[in-house]
Amino acid sequence: MRLSDCHNIADFRRLAKQRLPWPVFDYIDGAADDELTKSRNTAAFDDVDLVPDVLAGVETIDTSLTVMGRKSALPLILSPTALQRVFHWQGERAVARAAEKFGLWFGISSLATVSIEEIGAMGNNPKMFQLYVHKDKELNRSMIERCKAAKFDAIALTVDTIVGGKRERCLRSGFSSPPRFTPSSLLSYTLKPRWALDYVFREKFALPNLDTHVSAGTREPVSIQRYFSEMLDQSMDWKMAAQIREEWGGTFCLKGVMSVADARRAVEIGADAIMISNHGGRQLDGSRAPFDQVREIVDAVGGEIEVICDGGVRRGTHVLKALASGATCASGGRLYLYALAAAGQQGVERAITILKEEIERDMKLMGVTSVDQLTRDRMRWR
Ligand code: FNR
Repeated sequence: MRLSDCHNIADFRRLAKQRLPWPVFDYIDGAADDELTKSRNTAAFDDVDLVPDVLAGVETIDTSLTVMGRKSALPLILSPTALQRVFHWQGERAVARAAEKFGLWFGISSLATVSIEEIGAMGNNPKMFQLYVHKDKELNRSMIERCKAAKFDAIALTVDTIVGGKRERCLRSGFSSPPRFTPSSLLSYTLKPRWALDYVFREKFALPNLDTHVSAGTREPVSIQRYFSEMLDQSMDWKMAAQIREEWGGTFCLKGVMSVADARRAVEIGADAIMISNHGGRQLDGSRAPFDQVREIVDAVGGEIEVICDGGVRRGTHVLKALASGATCASGGRLYLYALAAAGQQGVERAITILKEEIERDMKLMGVTSVDQLTRDRMRWR
């Protein structure tokens, strides 16, 4: 299978599986417990049907919109995800360049493998920094200051990782950064020599940009579960979220809000946006799908805050359904990560092109010429 064989996100997933050692693929693809929420995140979109209008004169359409005060060419955000240089040697640089080319919001993770400063200096497209709150207050403060200096457009505070989810595929593979070699995982790395050579020689064992290993007082490989459990601040509450918003002082988004009550609290602390998200099913398995929560949250706070539907998006129609149910826009991680792992920047560009063409085609088939015409009456729940 080659890049030219990829015609949808599922194809990129297959190609990524072919090219990555299985512990790395499973880190991207896997989720918590029985992975019910991960499946449901995408399946939820199948519970509604779109109702097209015809003969609507759709020769020229506009897919752009304003999200968190910045123009986006598509109603789609590239959500922040960790460790991208472990997946492909071009890592965050590839995703950031692709986002710039298409005029999209790019999210960089607290666990990125490229520095805040380097990403901040790239391109004119809007960028958000995803913040995890560490027990080490100085580390939090310095990250916020670095984001200010690097002129990030927004901070997204992730609030759904108070402890790490039980990601059983990672428990089996021993996935960590740098990889911990068990006999079977070692075999899987040697079976993918192209990835292994890139990782060792080009990437020199890429690590997150904050030196988490030093902060944890150890230079042993750190699993993601250990990172969440030992380094993040479990006493984190709404007061602290409000303080962080104040300290940052710029556009502020809360990532991982699922309930109406929390959406109201987000409004109260002055957040500009929320991402309805369950972390791609990687945290609380059994959590509702973001798409299923859009309606009630939009009905409660839609006029007061922007509502982003994060997770499960694999198709242009998923984006349209999120918008029609009232979300400001959609966002996703795996939709570009599979493509990054499969073919670096070229892969990410092809994945975005495919989604862009799907969005454009589907808008025309729906008989709408701008994203604000996607309203709830254009959709029926089964
Ligand atoms: C993530 N996600 C994530 N979120 C976050 O706030 N900080 C992070 O470092 C990461 N890292 C990360 C790694 C990987 C491999 C994945 C798949 C996801 C969650 C991410 O931002 C987003 O919420 C989900 O990816 C949405 O689900 P989909 O689009 O992958 O279905």
